Amino acid sequence: MCGIVGYIGNKEAWPVLVKGLERLEYRGYDSAGVAILHGGNFSVYKKKGRVAELSKFVKNENKENIFGGVGIAHTRWATHGEPSDRNAHPHLSSGGDIVIVHNGIIENYLSIKKILTEKGYKFISDTDTEVLANLIEDIKKNARVNIDEAVRLALKQVVGAYAIIVLSKDDPNTMVIAKVGSPVVIGMGRGEFFVASDATPIVEYTKKVVYLEDREMAIIKNKKLTIKTIDNKIKNPYFQKLQMKIDELEKGGFPHFMLKEIFDQPRSIEDSMRGRINIKNAVVKLGGIENYLDKLVNAKRILIIACGTSWHAGLEAKYFFEEFSLIPVGVEYASEFRYRNPVIYKDDIVIVISQSGETADTLAALQLAKEKGATVLGICNVVGASIPRATDAGIYTHAGPEIGVASTKAFTAQITALLLLCLCLAKEKNILNKKRMKELLTELEKIPKKVKEVLKVDEVVKKIAKEFKNAKNFIFLGRGYGFPLALEGALKLKEISYIHAEGFAMGEMKHGSIALVDENMPVVFIATKGPLYEKVVSNMMEVKARKGKIIAILSKGDKNIKKIADYVIEIPETSDVMMPFIASIPLQLLAYYVALFRGCDIDKPRNLAKSVTVE
Ligand code: AGP
Ligand code: GLU
Repeated sequence: MCGIVGYIGNKEAWPVLVKGLERLEYRGYDSAGVAILHGGNFSVYKKKGRVAELSKFVKNENKENIFGGVGIAHTRWATHGEPSDRNAHPHLSSGGDIVIVHNGIIENYLSIKKILTEKGYKFISDTDTEVLANLIEDIKKNARVNIDEAVRLALKQVVGAYAIIVLSKDDPNTMVIAKVGSPVVIGMGRGEFFVASDATPIVEYTKKVVYLEDREMAIIKNKKLTIKTIDNKIKNPYFQKLQMKIDELEKGGFPHFMLKEIFDQPRSIEDSMRGRINIKNAVVKLGGIENYLDKLVNAKRILIIACGTSWHAGLEAKYFFEEFSLIPVGVEYASEFRYRNPVIYKDDIVIVISQSGETADTLAALQLAKEKGATVLGICNVVGASIPRATDAGIYTHAGPEIGVASTKAFTAQITALLLLCLCLAKEKNILNKKRMKELLTELEKIPKKVKEVLKVDEVVKKIAKEFKNAKNFIFLGRGYGFPLALEGALKLKEISYIHAEGFAMGEMKHGSIALVDENMPVVFIATKGPLYEKVVSNMMEVKARKGKIIAILSKGDKNIKKIADYVIEIPETSDVMMPFIASIPLQLLAYYVALFRGCDIDKPRNLAKSVTVE
């Protein structure tokens, strides 16, 4: 995720670009930069930090104004290469002819970089994007083609997700845009064009826009717009009229970032797998930890340390690892671990999980584990944050910026990364054979589609939420893989609706907590088909006998549960291990809609912060 902006027209580009970056900053903000073409030269300013720092930097550095009516800009959410001045976009090609901004991930950048390096190309940054800049230059030079054809031919070699804007010194009146996977929209003014990751930077200038589709490119040449596919087939631009208000646009048309992020999960889960599974060879490739695979294989124990939702992802991983990698797993609250005198063995592997990568308790626990000699791996969503910088190695979740305080897409991205790590280890230990690995990876690869399908329960959940908006308490129950989800569902609800909620291991209810159940108690059951289904039905009958109000998340078509529950949320059937990816969605939506009906501040709940950097 990041924000790209482009302008070509009669205005000075700089003010349009910097204002555009400010509007897109919610999409990613670890560094920012701008490139403007004027008098046959690029002025490139880029800097680690927020857009405001770039703005200040340009003003200080740039004695006179930056002139030029064509430019591109970028606010970054790093996926390859730490946030730094040299890794910030725009990226210039080696020869200085091409400049590019990019949102997305070039999966095969290393193989392309190797070929270009052998040809003598030099690289200043660690990013995948700079590789694309040099590939375009190489093709333009050797095939002697215009910039738009060079971009098209380069993209034929690229695997991954991208929204790019490209300029060339040789073609000052041309801007090339292309897209696969990441969004980009083009606004058409009078003799001028605006390009951006969403319509936010465009809507104040024009409401006439065209959204590029996957594998399409746009060529703006001498104030004329041409759309074609990367396979060189001309397309008629389909212009639309923007309806939305500015503030909604930042949320992509959603009323809250949390809802936007819930609905972003088919994309974010796909991105957290991108380039990491090879079904044909039944292989999981996790570049970030491949040097530690031996240590993982020989580990006698894995300790997972985290807080909040990340801790719930860790608890889910305990079930993954114990089922598929046959290794004992301990899951620890960082805020407790850091103040105890925990016993750590030298061949322990510690895994810390953190969306923000800045949680003080988790960072402190990580440092204590390292002092005690453990190898520490990290699962994090922010490249270059404190926690990934402190771990020995790790896996980035690539979920994109998560703005809503209540973690949603980060959770499903975390369990994706953890399941991939678990399967990678199970394969290395020859516990899972090729056939079983293929089955699991094939099902995992289909999860984004199933998440897209389960998002259709939105209206059903909304109706249920309205029934319970004034509830005083909630209970969430789950068994096996459903138990961490019960805890997560309870946390989601209480942190944004302020209703007291508790999650329990379902089998534990009879040891005291069932005393809580009466006709005023809503009880959410994670009741999908699985090896413990019969037990779940019995527990549901126990709650029914005490007049609890039963809300069941169940596998589509399960008539049995429908007869018992008061409210049902049907979700696509999956294998037990894949259920958490799907069943977490209705739990997130339930919390969202209850909070909405209660008029709570969903994206910024009281007393909370997105990243708890204090003890
Ligand atoms: C989750 O919805 C909460 N915002 C909170 O529990 C969060 O998961 C916890 O503070 C850990 O944050 P981290 O993943 O950034 O370390
Ligand atoms: N993969 C590119 C990088 O890491 C772009 C990331 C983004 O979308 O901001 O620089």
